Amino acid sequence: MKKIVLFASGSGSNVENIIQYFHDKPNVTIAGVLSNKRDAKVLDRCNRLKISSLCFNRTAFYNTECVLNVLKSVKPDLIVLAGFLWKIPSNLIESFPNQIINIHPALLPKYGGKGMYGNHVHQAVKDNYDSETGITIHYVNENYDEGAIIHQAKTEVLPGDTVSEIAGKVHALEHEYFPKVIEQLLKQL
Ligand code: GAR
Repeated sequence: MKKIVLFASGSGSNVENIIQYFHDKPNVTIAGVLSNKRDAKVLDRCNRLKISSLCFNRTAFYNTECVLNVLKSVKPDLIVLAGFLWKIPSNLIESFPNQIINIHPALLPKYGGKGMYGNHVHQAVKDNYDSETGITIHYVNENYDEGAIIHQAKTEVLPGDTVSEIAGKVHALEHEYFPKVIEQLLKQL
């Protein structure tokens, strides 16, 4: 049995999609969802889907070993950041080498780094008149959006696309590819 722990800060549509994808797969379990936001919509989704969730604040995350200890007791095979917006501290990266992955809503190395998340990314794509955008699934290291790339997928951006239309296209790619890439990685472990 392979175990996944998910981290999320916001709506959690990716979290829900991943939970649904693995729901009927007997050899993969979602051990829980961790969030840095007490009022994040992802927590409502977890309640509805009967998946354990846990919140932590900035102090607990950066100045204590609380989250590390939770993860050590759960022993996940893979830690998946699905719309998680805080930088991962080095104690977690060192304890789970090559076991933490992130999804970014652009074709890295374009539009990565601090402050580049959600609609900020899609707005930048529009402002630069890019004709394509996409998703990047990558390993997490100590710098934002800089770990080795595992998978990318592209979508077309039309001149008249609004930011929310671009976001919709990117979300569709995320929902299509993220669970499959996770499944592939778990098979290789
Ligand atoms: C996703 O588009 C994800 O790529 C992005 O946050 C969104 C979360 O959506 N992550 C980042 O921007 C990380 N830099 P969701 O809450 O509906 O899954």
